[in-house]
Amino acid sequence: MRPIKERDGATIEVIDQTRLPFELVWQTLGTVEAVATAIRTMVVRGAPLIGVTAAYGLAFALRTAASDATLATAIEMLRATRPTAVNLPWALEQLRVRLAPLAPHLRAEAAWLEAGRLAEAEALACRRIGEAGAAILRQTWESGGKKSQFNVLTHCNAGMLATVEWGTALAPVYLAHQLGVPVHVWVDETRPRNQGGLTVWELGQHQVPHTLIVDNAGGLLMQRGEVDLCIVGADRIARNGDVCNKVGTYLKALAARAHDVPFYVAAPVSTIDLSLDSGAGVIIEERDGDEIREWKKQLLFPPGTPVRNPAFDITPGALVKALITERGVCAPSMAGALFT
Ligand code: MRU
Repeated sequence: MRPIKERDGATIEVIDQTRLPFELVWQTLGTVEAVATAIRTMVVRGAPLIGVTAAYGLAFALRTAASDATLATAIEMLRATRPTAVNLPWALEQLRVRLAPLAPHLRAEAAWLEAGRLAEAEALACRRIGEAGAAILRQTWESGGKKSQFNVLTHCNAGMLATVEWGTALAPVYLAHQLGVPVHVWVDETRPRNQGGLTVWELGQHQVPHTLIVDNAGGLLMQRGEVDLCIVGADRIARNGDVCNKVGTYLKALAARAHDVPFYVAAPVSTIDLSLDSGAGVIIEERDGDEIREWKKQLLFPPGTPVRNPAFDITPGALVKALITERGVCAPSMAGALFT
């Protein structure tokens, strides 16, 4: 299953991730405005997936008018939906470079084809990340004495729901499971949006053993030797290897370093932002405080409770054992070199 599919040559269908893990509901999108809303409200989410979805959004915009002005306005509208994941501006730039030189009447069709090409490229990248990462999981399990349960901890959702197929952090887990490594995944709940529920749903679909934990439990589990390896995705990686990912990632990386647990980041090369020297320059999305105060319109805290809701954090590259990409595994400090 993919979380995004072309429907009839004119629209796309996406899984409404706000309804999971309780119900699997598809939403049809056919306008740039609908795509922008779906990204902003996190009907679709996850760095690579929002890039691909935005690419289809651009195709919809160009169907209504294909002028240079529409191209620029639609790119700006889509880019503004979420500020942190670099895959969104990256995907839009890929399309802009290909579409801008074309005659306007050719642009909409070219954009649709390009969006499809991008989706296939993301799926292939994730498959390769899975292969490289599964080898690491298997090696770690073997060198640890082939225990009857190999415990992996992950944060947020970096599975197929966040990408197009396989996922980034979950692709190695799926493939290692298929290879016979007895993987069990500790899934961080990932407050306040509870993306851990998406990960639990996905792992359940693949029959990979897993257990949901609250975000603060990982430290204890690492201290007690119950985590063999951590693996997460990324929304933006700076040239020096600093990793921006879902808020809470940094604390897990600190705990992992304290307890000598290897901490890996799995991401496509499109997540590396060559324009950033370090993570200090990443714009961290600040989301609505009601995401913390409420859950599905049920109050968890009194209205007006002062809250701050940064959606991402920065893990220094020094805490990351290696980056796992479709072009291979490397030290975080070598992130920039993956392009050469
Ligand atoms: O706010 P979200 O749910 O879009 O954040 C997603 C994450 O932080 C993922 O871990 C990240 O995009 C990597 S996904 C391949």
